[in-house]
Amino acid sequence: MLFKQQALLRQKLFVLGSLAIGSLLYLVARVGSLDRLQPLCPIDGRFGPRGQDEIPLRALQFKRGLLHEFRKGNATKEQIRLHNLGQQLPKAIIIGVRKGGTRALLEMLNLHPAVVKASQEIHFFDNDENYAKGIEWYRKKMPFSYPHQITIEKSPAYFITEEVPERIYKMNASIKLLIIVREPTTRAISDYTQVLEGKERKNKTYYKFEKLAIDPNTCEVNTKYKAVRTSIYTKHLERWLKYFPIEQFHIVDGDRLITEPLPELQLVEKFLNLPPRISQYNLYFNATRGFYCLRFNIVFNKCLAGSKGRIHPEVDTSVITKLRKFFHPFNQKFYQITGRTFNWP
Ligand code: A3P
Repeated sequence: MLFKQQALLRQKLFVLGSLAIGSLLYLVARVGSLDRLQPLCPIDGRFGPRGQDEIPLRALQFKRGLLHEFRKGNATKEQIRLHNLGQQLPKAIIIGVRKGGTRALLEMLNLHPAVVKASQEIHFFDNDENYAKGIEWYRKKMPFSYPHQITIEKSPAYFITEEVPERIYKMNASIKLLIIVREPTTRAISDYTQVLEGKERKNKTYYKFEKLAIDPNTCEVNTKYKAVRTSIYTKHLERWLKYFPIEQFHIVDGDRLITEPLPELQLVEKFLNLPPRISQYNLYFNATRGFYCLRFNIVFNKCLAGSKGRIHPEVDTSVITKLRKFFHPFNQKFYQITGRTFNWP
């Protein structure tokens, strides 16, 4: 009897021990995979042999932690100087398009260890008052970064503002420009929804989308309506092409970024000459949000704010058809210029 009890106890201890060892091994494997996930990467082959130019893993804490702490005023200037950190002008800008998914794109690119995002929309080039403050003012708005990292800013108003291409050209003629687009009618409705929500918040009334998008006198598409004009991508792009060759632009498919973000991000990594570092691990689908969210590491993940991914109001199908027909020739031209074809109706 005693022998039987002892055997049972031994068996229990064995099972518990195996479980503990298994959990430990799992944790070690996870931490290991995190290290692999986030090594700091060479850009343009600027890194020398291991050790010399390589940024230690704790630099990651700088990217996610100390830089952040510095911005909050918790890290000293001395620490920043010691680590050779500085505020760099952006090497790439997400110039638009409003409601194309510009925030999602910026946040997702920021998963890359060599990318540092400017969190706020700076509106330097489209706002005359800001522009008058000069390029140093703009640089000072940038986050701290290591010399090998690239800073990315996004201000979607840049795409449609007349003066911006020339101003950006004057700052850096070889800058890389990212444009994220969505099916033009959906984008216009998303644009409308954002304005509508703003009005509702202030307890104001607003017109129906149909009334704004269609001219009641002619029954044609109202090209004076900003949400419609912004979706004529080719018209805006043509202005930019007076300053920059098409090779300096990369077009991101905003509809695909919603459903299948990784391949879109990999194309951007390539365009920016960054080694591929963003992986499926960094992106997970959140069923409650109905969107992909971001996973930086085992403890830190986040979804975009609730203002991203609003429910659109229902729009009369005849108006949708009319808009789609209207955008069709512009879309064709856009495909032709950019070399990227979308399945827009
Ligand atoms: P809707 O609100 O119309 O759905 P922007 O950041 O340029 O304002 O774009 C907002 C759009 O980003 C949203 O439009 C949403 O569809 C899209 N988006 C793309 N990926 C997203 C994500 N992972 N989470 C939330 N919104 C995302």
